[in-house]
Amino acid sequence: MNNEFVGEVAVVTGGAAGLGREICLALASSGAKVLALDVDGAGLEETKLLSTERGGDLKVLQCDVADSESVKSAFEFSEKEFGHCTIMVAAAGIALYTDYLSMGEKDMDRTIAVNLKGPLLCAQESLRQMEKAGKGSIIFISSVQAVMSLFGCVVYAATKSGLIAAARTLALETGKMGVRVNTISPGTIDTPMLDRDLASMNREEAAKFLEKVKAANVLGRIGKPSEIADAVMYLSSPKASYVTGIDLRVDAGFAALKNI
Ligand SMILES: NC(=O)c1ccc[n+]([C@@H]2O[C@H](COP(=O)([O-])OP(=O)(O)OC[C@H]3O[C@@H](n4cnc5c(N)ncnc54)[C@H](O)[C@@H]3O)[C@@H](O)[C@H]2O)c1
Repeated sequence: MNNEFVGEVAVVTGGAAGLGREICLALASSGAKVLALDVDGAGLEETKLLSTERGGDLKVLQCDVADSESVKSAFEFSEKEFGHCTIMVAAAGIALYTDYLSMGEKDMDRTIAVNLKGPLLCAQESLRQMEKAGKGSIIFISSVQAVMSLFGCVVYAATKSGLIAAARTLALETGKMGVRVNTISPGTIDTPMLDRDLASMNREEAAKFLEKVKAANVLGRIGKPSEIADAVMYLSSPKASYVTGIDLRVDAGFAALKNI
């Protein structure tokens, strides 16, 4: 435990797994009061257990970020339990990769609703409380896919690009309130999302894919969730008090490398 975030109230979406869970645990073990939101109730309970073991003050609530009523009641719950939200991290996301011609409207709508509308709804609700608090940090988890193109990811990439544009533009509206808005674009990080991608391949294909992913960045390895949580901690802390409207790439140089 350290005390860096004592007095802060954080709401983190996608808190049942992967990056969202790691972000929740990092903030809670630094003294923030944390509400973890997710559709996955069992995963949330695991996050709560892990946080309790580390002495964190973390509550969990099932919430579908694509549903405005669900988001509204989650933020009301958080305010009632903890006070005004001062840190909001939107990490919930889905990756429905498929070639564009076979993608149905339902999958398009869901991807846009979870990955783009969800963070925007959460930003709106958190902002109402940050305005009262007179300060705040909003972070959307985007992706290097906002600027790098992979086959099968048209809609996913569009949502991630949209988050960067939305955060940059929202930063203009919130600066006077003392609220900073930024995005983080991770490269490939070892989470259940990556495990699901690998599960669709046989052992040999998976091993080849992992080698390709490692070779596609300058450091030659896959990232750890804690390396994204560290970026969140930086952007949410007073150390980033002059940082707003940016996209922070945490990708081991993936977007810098022309891999020929
Ligand atoms: N892992 C990577 O390599 C990587 C790279 C770039 C960007 N990202 C982004 O980081 C974020 C987290 O990814 P991850 O790898 O931890 O994924 P993950 O699948 O491991 O975790 C995502 C979490 O979001 C939750 N979720 C999904 N839909 C939801 C909804 N409608 N409402 C609330 N919660 C919902 C899931 O239940 C899950 O717990 C995502 O936005 C993803 O696009 C991940």
